[in-house]
Amino acid sequence: MKLYYFVTPHYQTIVDRYFLPFMPSDFDLREARLDQQVERYVFQGENWADLCLYKADVIVQAVRENMGSNILFTDADIQFFRPCRWQLEQLLEEHSMAFQNNLAPGEPGFEINFGFFAVWCDAATLAFWEAFRTLLRSNTKIFDQELVTLMLRQVPLKWAMLSHEEFMCPGRKWEPGQPLPVTPNLAMHHANWTMGIESKLRQLEQARAQFVRLDSLLNEARVDRTLFNGSALPYDGCGSRINSCRGLYELIKENLTPGSTVIETGTHRGISTELFALYTKQVLTVDTDICFEARDRLSKYSHVTCLQAESIQLASQLPDQVCDAVYLDTAHTYEHVKAEILAWLPKIVPGGFICGHDYTLHDPGLMKAVNELLGQPDKVYSDGSWIFKLPDASNTQTHSRTDGVSYVKERATELVI
Ligand SMILES: C[S@@+](CC[C@H](N)C(=O)[O-])C[C@H]1O[C@@H](n2cnc3c(N)ncnc32)[C@H](O)[C@@H]1O
Repeated sequence: MKLYYFVTPHYQTIVDRYFLPFMPSDFDLREARLDQQVERYVFQGENWADLCLYKADVIVQAVRENMGSNILFTDADIQFFRPCRWQLEQLLEEHSMAFQNNLAPGEPGFEINFGFFAVWCDAATLAFWEAFRTLLRSNTKIFDQELVTLMLRQVPLKWAMLSHEEFMCPGRKWEPGQPLPVTPNLAMHHANWTMGIESKLRQLEQARAQFVRLDSLLNEARVDRTLFNGSALPYDGCGSRINSCRGLYELIKENLTPGSTVIETGTHRGISTELFALYTKQVLTVDTDICFEARDRLSKYSHVTCLQAESIQLASQLPDQVCDAVYLDTAHTYEHVKAEILAWLPKIVPGGFICGHDYTLHDPGLMKAVNELLGQPDKVYSDGSWIFKLPDASNTQTHSRTDGVSYVKERATELVI
């Protein structure tokens, strides 16, 4: 499959560091280079139209030259994580084109990304891109991405939107350091929604680091139960499944956002804490013994606070409604779980989540306590992670979540015992 990529000298660092080194070998590369007349092309800024017209010419020419084949067009500010040609080709068996989604799930509206799309070349797609070029030439006020999105709404072509899970961009305004929606299924990442090469490089670096960490966390045993419980438990042959972080990962992805504030009780080695850190804005984790491994693992995250404290005692020192979610993973006896739920429930904002680990038959006391106080969980994940969504209370006066974050951060040192 031919891959046409657009590059200006301004993007060369990205091409050399991220675009080419991780390129799957089953693409046949075709460079489309626009020698820069201006210092740089700013997204939808002055001179952007020149870049768009150049792209339109290349696309029309490429479609014309590859009739009866699939081709891929990409910007150069992307990186691959695995081969994905078969996937694109499979989609093009039933669709004329497939585009990256430019908006994160939950963002209002509809917008394709003009920086990554695959095309089946035939008379219909050629006509589409010729019309695009004509419209772009005659109307300098409309931008490329906007125009393609508009045209797709009106033409009778069958086209597909690529899944955000596999073909990712931040999907909303992004600043360096903010979490990215990286998943274990990621095939490629488009570094957009941020301005300037430096920021794009930071995003590319962060997505790769996040992917590598996620991959290793999902493969790492979450809790060394033989150490923690003092004896090995019978797992009915599903030990590796129960001990993996995949369930917790699903819980986080389905319920939390990059803006969420989370409190976790039971840090242990800090593996679950790190998973929260990769996807949320602020994490407070508490354990009676924060071990060296956990400190070391978590020290690189400035938005994680580790407190050496007793869980219920800590809860009694915090004001109500300070976080979006509490994840309970300390002792699993009936009495303790009950006391912990009662202590932590008021600390969660209305509409937030109370959740925890080990809702399995191996911990009957924990299940009984959860069922008695809360009822059957809304969902139990493959690792025994359980979750309840608390009712929204739109009329209730609540602390703002930002207040909660600052409070926890400011008082972190005082609260350490
Ligand atoms: C099951 S491990 C936590 C595992 C961790 N969440 C993970 O997934 O990697 C339980 C931890 O809870 C801590 N712990 C037990 N009782 C506690 C309490 N009352 N307050 C705070 N921490 C407690 C233990 O020291 C232990 O490290």
